[in-house]
Formats: sequence, structure tokens, C-alpha cells
Amino acid sequence: MTTMEQITALCKRKGFIYPGSEIYGGFANSYTYGPYGVQMKNNLKALWWKMFIEQRPDMVGIDGTILLHPQTWKASGHVDTFNDPMMDCKNCQARHRADHLAETKMDGNADHMSLEELTTFIKEQGIKCPKCGKTDFTEARQFNLMFETQMAKTGEDSTAYLRPETAQAIFLEFKNVVDTTRVKVPFGIGQIGKAFRNEITPGNFIFRVLEFEQMEIEYFVPESEWEQHFDAWVKAMYDWCEVIGLEKDKIHELDVEGDALAHYSKKTIDLEYEFPFGVKELYGCAYRTNFDLTNHENASGKKLRWRDPQTNEEYIPHVIEPTFGVDRSILAILSTAYEEETLEGGEVRTVLHLKPVIAPVKVAVLPLTKKDGLPEKAQEILALAQSFGNCEYDEGGNIGKRYRRQDEVGTPVCVTIDYETLDDAAVTVRDRDTMAQERIKIADLQSYLKEKYFG
Ligand code: GAP
Repeated sequence: MTTMEQITALCKRKGFIYPGSEIYGGFANSYTYGPYGVQMKNNLKALWWKMFIEQRPDMVGIDGTILLHPQTWKASGHVDTFNDPMMDCKNCQARHRADHLAETKMDGNADHMSLEELTTFIKEQGIKCPKCGKTDFTEARQFNLMFETQMAKTGEDSTAYLRPETAQAIFLEFKNVVDTTRVKVPFGIGQIGKAFRNEITPGNFIFRVLEFEQMEIEYFVPESEWEQHFDAWVKAMYDWCEVIGLEKDKIHELDVEGDALAHYSKKTIDLEYEFPFGVKELYGCAYRTNFDLTNHENASGKKLRWRDPQTNEEYIPHVIEPTFGVDRSILAILSTAYEEETLEGGEVRTVLHLKPVIAPVKVAVLPLTKKDGLPEKAQEILALAQSFGNCEYDEGGNIGKRYRRQDEVGTPVCVTIDYETLDDAAVTVRDRDTMAQERIKIADLQSYLKEKYFG
């Protein structure tokens, strides 16, 4: 089983993900996606956009702002209810999620417990502060997860919020999209963007951070059809998981119940994944009813309705919301793809078995030597390979080491240009997973790569 230490070490060593603000001693729970990380993340987002927006006639996309009108968050219920239960250790002042503390002494989760129940349970069970080991906590209280900021304007309240979910920008633009495009219920609006949460206990690398990215869809349906669309979206989420290289038997469905449901949801299925630190939420699919549009209609005084052209009936559509965390996707992909493989002779190679569509480098082009016209020939091959996306050219050092370097960052295929290439117009193509090598004519190379890796 891959460990978090292996993943974080690889990410730092190879330039996938660095700890944020490192030259100032770091800034807790913030991370920078380095050159390979951002390439991978962009591949993931482009694939999502293609699969769920471009290739579906019932979907359109938007790109809304991070700062929305502050009334948005009052109407959506986030100001009043987007809370987690928190308690402080009186001895060392460390802050903890009260439900997470309680869960250390119970099977299952503590989402259903009230603040009083959490306080009593933690006291009775003698649960210790994970930081200092003492058992002297404050009472549990609610902590709102939205980051506040102050606008420069004067006058009334100048508080604004960094959005804690991308979804609300979609609800605010529902009417604009209906009025300006040819969508018809059922249809969906998708968006990719940053979200911010003042998490009490962030951690596990990029799993729970304060600033992260979401890929969200709000899919508008007639109330009577919500179940069929809900089931179809859960299935679509499984298909997506397969496309990005996650393992089906590592996905677990959690039917979220009772108080654990978000304040807007009538039904939620979480797709949990076997991460190196345990089975935790990867994505979610929620039935948000017409909660958000109704509240925004009431708060704004603007009609947020759909008129059925057949029946002329006017109604507020209901919403199915499949939501995908970008950072959790990256962590799930990396932990699934990582392998330390012992080769014949005992050498261990680190390899990332990334799907070609996700891999940050598509093809590495390697001239055997730096002289005798091989680099020039290699540049021709590089130009050809770049039609598949980001490629690398590497002419430094022993060829075995260069292959290992590419294995470690998940490059699906390496193309080597040797002396024979100048005579036979062919190159050696080496596969990352099998390490098998094939001689391919340069004239056939593009169609070969397309068919085998990038089709
Ligand atoms: N609009 C619905 C919504 O925001 P959520 O379950 O709170 O639902 C959606 O968040 C997804 O965003 C999660 O399934 C997860 O992938 C990701 N996510 C949530 N909080 C996160 C955090 N603090 N750090 C990283 N990803 C997070």
C-alpha cells in the first residue's frame, strides 16, 4: 500500500506539489502546484470540461466570481448553517473538530451529535487533546467555515465572503443562462474554480486545505424526475473515475443520512475513496431540491423559473449536484498510480502509472548522444510528438537513468533517437508500464502514438 510519505516525497522531489511559502518557513496547509503538478491538474480540468460540458448537448459552462454579493450567502443558508463543531484545548490552545475528537472513540461518524452531546461524550470518554494529551476542553461550539473579507466601500456592512462552494455562482446566473442560450430543462451548468474554507483541522496534504478547486455541476430537472437524473449522475461519476485511472473497488458509496446531510440536501451519495490514510470523501452527488433557487428568488425578488414550452407550466426546477474536488482527484490519482517496482536484479524503480490523458508529460524524446546530428533529428521528432500535448526533450546522461526519470513522473512513452535512426528513419519507442521497446518508422510514429496512447 502506498503511503502518504511516498506521495509527498515524490511530489516535492519531482516538482508536482511544493509546500506553500516555503522560503518564509511555510504557510500551514497551503501548497503550490509545481511544473508537473499544474500540467496534471490542467489535464484533469480540461478532460472534465470536455466530458461534461463540450461533449454533452444538455450542458453549458460559466466562470463566475469568487466574491459574490454578500446576500448570496445569507439566502443560501451558509451564513447561518455552514458550520463545524469546534472545541479548544484549554491547556495548549489547540483547536479541534469536536466531531473528529468524538470519532476517535466510536465506530462511524459523529455528524448526528448535538454540541451538548459532543461536549458530554468527549468528557465522559476521557478523550485526550491530540497535541498535548490533556483532557481539558472548552465546550463544543459552532464555527462558521466561510472566510470573511472587507470591501473598500464605505457605508453599511462591508463584509464579503470568499465563496466556500462554486455552486452559488451558478444559481445566481440561472436566469441569464436560460435567457441567453438554447438550454431546455433538463439541463446543467458547470463551473471549475477556487473555493475557500476556514477548516478547523486541515490536513493530509492536499486532501483538506483552506483553498482548493472544485468542478461542479448544477443540473436542473422537473421535480418528478429527480431520482432518475440522480442515479444517472452517480453512474456518470463512476465513469469519470474510471477515465482518470481510479480503481472501482477502491470506491465506496456512502448514503449520507440525518444531520450529516448538508443543510440544502435531501439526499447525498458520497463517493469515498481508499486514500493512503483511510476511506474518505472524494466526491459527492446531492439532490438540492429547489432550495437554492427558491431562496434566491425570495431574497432577490427576481423570478428564477422555467416555463415548460409544451405545457406552459412555470416552475422552479429542482437540482442534482455532482461535485468533484480537483485536489482530492489529484491525490487519489497519484496514490493509485504510484508504484515502487522491484526489477530483476533487485533494482527498484519508482513509476507513476498515470493514464496518458492525465500524464503531465506525454512523450519524452531522447537522443542517444548529444552529437552527430542526433539532437537535430530529435527536435524533428519532438515537434511531431507535441501534437499530443506537453513533451520533454532530454539529452543528458545515461539512457537508463533518463527512462527512470520519465517513469517517476508518469510519462507513458519515451522515443529514443540513435545512430540507426539516421539510416533507417526509425526510432525506438519504449513503453513506461511494460518497459518493452519497439522499433517504429518515423513516418508511422504519429499514428502509432495516437492509436496506442492518445486516441
Ligand atoms: N457544492 C457542494 C459542496 O461544496 P462539499 O461536499 O462540501 O459539497 C465538494 O464539497 C467537494 O469539494 C468534496 O467532495 C471535496 O472533493 C472537495 N472539498 C471540500 N472541502 C475541501 C477541502 N477543505 N479541501 C480540499 N477539497 C475539498
